[in-house]
Amino acid sequence: MRWTRPRACRRPALTYPEFGPRLATVHDREHFDRWASRYDRSLGQPLVFSPTHIAVLNAAVEAGAHPSAVLDIGCGTGRLLERAAGKWPDAQLVGVDLSSAMIDEGRRKHPGDSRFRFEVADAAILPLDAGTVDLAFTTLSFHHWADQLGGVRQVAQVLRPGGLFVLADIRPPLLLRPVMRRFHASGSIWRLFEQGGFTVVGQRRPLRLAGHVLVTVGRKGP
Ligand SMILES: C[S@@+](CC[C@H](N)C(=O)[O-])C[C@H]1O[C@@H](n2cnc3c(N)ncnc32)[C@H](O)[C@@H]1O
Repeated sequence: MRWTRPRACRRPALTYPEFGPRLATVHDREHFDRWASRYDRSLGQPLVFSPTHIAVLNAAVEAGAHPSAVLDIGCGTGRLLERAAGKWPDAQLVGVDLSSAMIDEGRRKHPGDSRFRFEVADAAILPLDAGTVDLAFTTLSFHHWADQLGGVRQVAQVLRPGGLFVLADIRPPLLLRPVMRRFHASGSIWRLFEQGGFTVVGQRRPLRLAGHVLVTVGRKGP
């Protein structure tokens, strides 16, 4: 599948400056806490989540990733990290999520496996030291982040120079863009990446997801 450059985008990247760097809402967290115990068996797994995970892993490999430390932000129960462990068996795998019930599920599935670490955290305040991650993912979570630009900047901070950030999220249909304001078209995400300290390697809309999910890959500058 080929990488694309975005067409000119008239809408400015949304940064929610009027709220400052606030954290995600209690409502978001409670919703995912309730979903956690059923999450791995939900219909969305084969339809959307697994194809998205495959797409972001492929995109990372194509961009040249050979990570020893992988981070997934908004990791849910850790399914993407489980696939990443199959691809990079020696890598350390860190998952962070706002929902403590999601994190409990992740921990429950990997007792005693020192490669996995799961932490409750907001994307805007990542519990990692600067420059310690080679590859960061976020899948189908970004539209929930209350401080999106702050989150992208946090990812840049924890990545090593040259590290990769692969973001996949729902791409809003043209007519719904004015109301789906937390979802981004390709040009808007591109600018958020640049504002956050990344050079965009490329973007694509995987065929298996019918073009509804946009994958963006960025590389942190030196
Ligand atoms: C739809 S689920 C996707 C989970 C996982 N990435 C996947 O692909 O299966 C969205 C996840 O993002 C988490 N989330 C939402 N806002 C967040 C934030 N600000 N920081 C960290 N995690 C967040 C939610 O708790 C939830 O587990």
